[in-house]
Amino acid sequence: MDRRSFIESCSAGAACLSAGAALPAFAADARPQAYPHAMLVDERGDPLRAARLKPLTNYVFHYPFEATPVFLLDLGRPAAPQSLSTRNRDVYVWPGGVGPRRSVVAYSAICAHQLVYPTREVSFISFRKTRAQRGVQDELIHCCADHSQYDPARGAQVLSGPATQPLCAVLLSHDPKTDTLTAYATLGGELFDDFFKKYEMKLSLEVGAKARNSVAGHAVARELDKFCRNPIQC
Ligand code: FES
Repeated sequence: MDRRSFIESCSAGAACLSAGAALPAFAADARPQAYPHAMLVDERGDPLRAARLKPLTNYVFHYPFEATPVFLLDLGRPAAPQSLSTRNRDVYVWPGGVGPRRSVVAYSAICAHQLVYPTREVSFISFRKTRAQRGVQDELIHCCADHSQYDPARGAQVLSGPATQPLCAVLLSHDPKTDTLTAYATLGGELFDDFFKKYEMKLSLEVGAKARNSVAGHAVARELDKFCRNPIQC
């Protein structure tokens, strides 16, 4: 979906979801935040094809900054638009999945509670194909730090735990001719400023001086198991 279609679908979705009620005033986090476009590619630099993603498999890429990880998932079934709100009660409409089956979604992998995120060494937050130990259902994004759980089929809405807002969505466009995916914006409660503040020293060691550089052109997506040496399953 291109940006214009997305904004149109947001308006249409919001109208449906509010059942005729007046649309809320959109605050900053309720609007897409545009960033440079980045086509998703594999480790060889070849474009990732949406139809070839393994369903219910946790992929990771970095966007909109070199140090900010994102989960990419093919849920294997369509994901419908969802009305959500940030911790500041800014209402927004997540536009749903993209791709041939409208099943491909992407979210910032920075936990909305205390900013836990996947690194090359360890990941306490990840997508779980089957029920996590303290889970309420299968196919959730689970953070082991304090057991926040997010539903990737519903815009990463919080289902349980201390997180007070959904994971920030990363918006993707899908080109049906080439079956490629391109990240172009975020939507929802961004936590990037808090993230860079909290982990300034750690990120400078992990990523170096380019940590806050924008990702542009392309972004490499890998399976979490290939990106991270110790994905924790709590
Ligand atoms: S940091 Fe994820 S639940 Fe606390």
